[in-house]
Amino acid sequence: MSRSAFPELPPGFRFGAATAAYQIEGAHDEDGRGPSIWDTYSHTPGRTLGGATGDTACDHYHRYPEDVALLRELGVEGYRFSISWPRLLPDGTGAVNPKGLDFYDRLIDELLAAGIAPAVTLYHWDLPQALEERGGWRVRETAEAFADYAALAAERYGDRVERWITLNEPFCSAFVGYAEGRHAPGAREGRGALAAAHHLLVAHGLAVRELRAAGAREVGITLNLDRLHAASDRSEDLAALRRAEVLHNEVWTEPLFAGRYPEHEAETWEGLADGPWRRPGDLQLIGAPMDFVGINFYRPITVEAVPHREDDPEPRTAMDIGVAEPNPYGTRLTTMGWPVVPSALTGLLRGLHSRYPQLPPVWITENGSAEADTVAPDGRVHDEERIDYLAGHLAAVVDAIAAGVDVRGYYVWSLLDNFEWARGYEQRFGLVRVDYDTLTRIPKDSYHWYRGLITAHRARTEEPAR
Ligand code: FCB
Repeated sequence: MSRSAFPELPPGFRFGAATAAYQIEGAHDEDGRGPSIWDTYSHTPGRTLGGATGDTACDHYHRYPEDVALLRELGVEGYRFSISWPRLLPDGTGAVNPKGLDFYDRLIDELLAAGIAPAVTLYHWDLPQALEERGGWRVRETAEAFADYAALAAERYGDRVERWITLNEPFCSAFVGYAEGRHAPGAREGRGALAAAHHLLVAHGLAVRELRAAGAREVGITLNLDRLHAASDRSEDLAALRRAEVLHNEVWTEPLFAGRYPEHEAETWEGLADGPWRRPGDLQLIGAPMDFVGINFYRPITVEAVPHREDDPEPRTAMDIGVAEPNPYGTRLTTMGWPVVPSALTGLLRGLHSRYPQLPPVWITENGSAEADTVAPDGRVHDEERIDYLAGHLAAVVDAIAAGVDVRGYYVWSLLDNFEWARGYEQRFGLVRVDYDTLTRIPKDSYHWYRGLITAHRARTEEPAR
């Protein structure tokens, strides 16, 4: 396909853009917001690249009218953003912060006035620090606190929100945050992080219940499921692949879509598989029907065995699974070091569809690429690689739909360059460049391409007026 060709999605397919609170809002201590684990983590020396924090980020908290105007110009029908839990509930539970509630009222109303449907993520990794101090996701009380927060948000915004996403990528919250410690809260508890994984699923189930009770329109979860391959046919690598399938995928998909725990989980979790955090009734709670599932997809992963060395002073952190280098796919890498393999997205979606008869309709809730963008002498950002990446992945969605997968829409990651977690501000995922000195926004060529795609889609699929 030529670089600028527009993939042809079916009539009714919807296009949007996505962001997350901690990555763009800034105003970290303004108007009564409490600290989250990402404030604590990013302020701890050595945790993020160059000591970057989200204190200011894109200053979206103050500049949201400008950002909504960018969305309107882009022509998207939907915008996925997250609510900062500690902006609404500074201590995680108890006293509500009225100014925090007001901020999202203003944002939602601004979106609706621009004809854009809000899709709200309730948890995009910014746990109130106060709850972490009481055990964080290690304890069930955090899931119960999450349910109260979900009820508060649904009550306040439910009349205007089209789509609710309980959790974003619980894999990262549980295993990157509590097993490997590369994300907040920076815990290195290895397999013990299974407790966090389970409590996140319980939190999801309790929140679904609250959202339903409040009459929410569409309710789902966003997962970063992975298309995994083994680095070689060596038995160690094949065993690592089996553990990785449990860790990355089945720990989520089996309870959510099949009402059971993974069949071959014991090898991954060793003695912890059936831990005391699992309670009777949990599977029923977690497996309650959803209206959609969000899938975030960036790249396939090749895994290899990384044996734990007896003399390693660190606890076992990554379940002895490594991501193989170098890139075995022979394709280009983004600046994240991620191989660009669009067909892996088709494979992932087809695999899910054939494995789970109960799979709800799919929304791609994130997909995009970080590239080495620069501002050209003409003042523009000519990000051909990103256009190529997006075109390829949307074509992969077309293929999945042709194979029978019910994919309803796509939110590009991301509207803006933003705080890329431990990687700080060097990785630029935006359709819009952010100059972090002046906070000026410059729409990149990919922004104009995406707008053209949406316009062409509408022209091609909308019923002609009679
Ligand atoms: C996903 C996160 C999102 C962003 C992208 C690049 O894992 O959900 O916040 O950082 O990766």
